[in-house]
Amino acid sequence: MVLPQAATGPGPKLIQEGDLVVVYESYNAIKAVYVDKKGQYANRFGNFQHKDWVGQPYGSRVHCRPPGRGWVYLLAPTAELWTQVLRHRTQILYVADISLVIANLALTPGKVVLESGTGSGSLTHSLARAVAPHGHVHTFDFHQLRADEARAEFDRHGLTGLVTGGHRNIEEQGFPQELHGQADAVFLDLPGPWRVVPSAAACIRPDGNFCSFSPCIEQVQRTCEALDRHGFTDIRTLEVLLRTYEVSTETLHTNAAQTQQPNKQGKKRSRGAAAAATDETAADAAAADGSEAAVAAAAADPGFVRQVLAKPCMDARGHTGYLTFARRFVAAVALDNGSGGSSDAEEEEDAGEQQGGAAADGEERQQQTDSAYESGAGI
Ligand SMILES: C[S@@+](CC[C@H](N)C(=O)[O-])C[C@H]1O[C@@H](n2cnc3c(N)ncnc32)[C@H](O)[C@@H]1O
Repeated sequence: MVLPQAATGPGPKLIQEGDLVVVYESYNAIKAVYVDKKGQYANRFGNFQHKDWVGQPYGSRVHCRPPGRGWVYLLAPTAELWTQVLRHRTQILYVADISLVIANLALTPGKVVLESGTGSGSLTHSLARAVAPHGHVHTFDFHQLRADEARAEFDRHGLTGLVTGGHRNIEEQGFPQELHGQADAVFLDLPGPWRVVPSAAACIRPDGNFCSFSPCIEQVQRTCEALDRHGFTDIRTLEVLLRTYEVSTETLHTNAAQTQQPNKQGKKRSRGAAAAATDETAADAAAADGSEAAVAAAAADPGFVRQVLAKPCMDARGHTGYLTFARRFVAAVALDNGSGGSSDAEEEEDAGEQQGGAAADGEERQQQTDSAYESGAGI
């Protein structure tokens, strides 16, 4: 992405007027702010004047006015942070899926990638960062307003030379003819990705990669069938399940201490759940409320220990969708000795038969679309 204007030279990167800054209050309170010398940022701790931020290095901790009460961190934007803070115009891809997409599409600096739909531009920022500084992302959305807003955002984030945003119905028209044979990778996040497979096949260079994101397995099935018919190989579908953990410090009973510690009547304890016990000490009660007094009381009680715990978040995001990857088939060079392989003519015949079979399965609409792409009609 998306570098702050001052991020290109050596030395600390200083915040400037107009820069995008990611304001970090806590791990679950992060916001995007464009610095405007007359602007201010307000939260429950007070008001922060943007003009106080100008000239500060990214990563600074800044205080509100009057100083001493609240503070926030000012982070330099990255593609990952942008995904966390952007305004949702659509559903978006998150970092778990994005990282797998970038890795499996083998995106490196200089590559050319085609994307549809653009949506909120969450993935587009990561694609741009992956292919920078000399590659290019061509992204298309058939929703005029979304396409325009995304384009404005790309410009504002300094991605003009890296990303071209277009308004186009990709399922009906496919990618533009001038992109045929030009792409190292194609990514689709559309309701009917299988309709675009013929156009993707025309655009992806030999040994290039395809990826489609779909929330439903029925979409995946149809896409895989289309990929198979159009010369893709190494077709595989992955589901990313993200599991986040909550890490906290808590006060726990130590069993050994509990069984030996005398209770208020001077008898040895032998107990199950602390909450059910009638011989509750101050530290027992304090452990439950977690206050500073509780922690101090617990620390003084040999029956307790402070420990860092990690447990899975109950509200962790589960299924987001399926990622289907495929590689563009490279036809083997025909051998003179007739010892194997099939000729181009035979392969075309095979493809014809496969398409005939698919049509027999009731895929007439698909057939019409596929042949429209193959003939270049409507593109
Ligand atoms: C779920 S959003 C994509 C989100 C995007 N991957 C992101 O990370 O922000 C799907 C987008 O596809 C667009 N779309 C749907 N059908 C389309 C078509 N036939 N041609 C082009 N765009 C289409 C929608 O307008 C929508 O913006």
